[in-house]
Amino acid sequence: MKILVVGGGGREHAIIKKIKENKEVEKIFALPGNGGIAADAECVNVGAKDIDGIVDFAVKNGVDYAVVAPDDPLVLGAVDALEEKGIPCFGPRASAAIIEGSKVFSKNLMKKYGIPTAEYEVFYDEESALEYLETAPVPTVIKADGLALGKGVIIAETREEAKNAVRSMMEDKVFGKSGDQIVIEEFLTGPEVSVLSFTDGKTVVPMVSSMDHKRAHDGDAGLNTGGMGTVAPNPYYTEAVAKECMEKIFLPTVAAMNAEGRTFKGCLYFGLMLTPKGPKVIEYNCRFGDPETQVVLPLLESDLLTVMRAVTEERLSEVEVKFSHKDACCVIMASDGYPEKYEKGFEISIPEEVAKNVYVAGAALKDGKLVTSGGRVLGVTAVADSLPEAIEKSYSLVEKIHFDNAFYRRDIGARALLAKEEN
Ligand code: AMP
Ligand code: GLY
Repeated sequence: MKILVVGGGGREHAIIKKIKENKEVEKIFALPGNGGIAADAECVNVGAKDIDGIVDFAVKNGVDYAVVAPDDPLVLGAVDALEEKGIPCFGPRASAAIIEGSKVFSKNLMKKYGIPTAEYEVFYDEESALEYLETAPVPTVIKADGLALGKGVIIAETREEAKNAVRSMMEDKVFGKSGDQIVIEEFLTGPEVSVLSFTDGKTVVPMVSSMDHKRAHDGDAGLNTGGMGTVAPNPYYTEAVAKECMEKIFLPTVAAMNAEGRTFKGCLYFGLMLTPKGPKVIEYNCRFGDPETQVVLPLLESDLLTVMRAVTEERLSEVEVKFSHKDACCVIMASDGYPEKYEKGFEISIPEEVAKNVYVAGAALKDGKLVTSGGRVLGVTAVADSLPEAIEKSYSLVEKIHFDNAFYRRDIGARALLAKEEN
């Protein structure tokens, strides 16, 4: 089989490495991939948002199955366009990807179907939003409606900060059209849990839970990033919580999307907060999370491609989706300065015995050598029988990798360890 994977980050590298385990796979194309992914797939210089280019390539190269991993092409209708040419895909159609593509859509969906989430108001003009903020409780949370590279959420401690956030989104258009509509919502508290799930619109199979570390610096200080590390499973996500989430969130969401005529097929990601009043949805993503995928897929014992194809063919209930009971930890090595200014172009050295644990996110090949090309450069995942061992192992592997200006958090998994002690 010839497989095409759209995207070019650490998540896509993890998906590709896992798909490669299937013996029927003869070729994997990554569009566009990256310098590190090139070791596992043929990278093709077609951008992830170039829907025509992707379809054209797939047709000309006889692709048998496509996996569309990032949010942008999903929201832009890459799956619809590939399916039109008869190419089966893993990922939701645009009509369902809107669950991530529009926060207004997802909030209204949850309200309509009684799915627990933060209280909220939607605003279409700046004046009404500013007026609302005169009396709104703080802290409050301001969210741009559309995709904003994970930066469209501002937690405002004061009314003045909240108003500035509204002005930046609606007047200065810092997120472009994504800020034409905004959501202002209740500030929730509690541990966060990421749950990725497979769903074919009939069955929903949650994967092992995970914990992201979004802030740049140790102790959850510094700016929000695309994710500095992950662990799986997430110790806050007990069996009782999982049962409650299945009943009150996962099944109702899949049913709600069906009822709206927007059947979701693919990986539906639930960003949850375990509040004192029970689990609530912070966000939905229409895709695998990054860097959650880099700890979740290494724990998957079943064949990924088999599960994906079952999702596409709406027979997920017929296949086994099995996860190991081990722990995984992924530490992201970034370029110093990320998520703000950073330098790139530094040579990366990865010892051969470590390569299988590495998922490359931002690196390019230059004169045959791997060099840094992004803020987040690579993730290093270790799997072990316990969380402390997984953490120790991933950091020992990190120390074997070198590039100038490397930066990483030293406390990935520390909060999860504390949670385990508390239980
Ligand atoms: P998102 O980009 O939607 O993942 O949001 C980024 C982060 O903002 C989340 O991971 C939460 O930590 C935080 N956040 C979003 N919504 C809320 C909320 N209603 N209350 C508290 N924190 C929130
Ligand atoms: N790790 C959060 C996301 O993928 O959006």
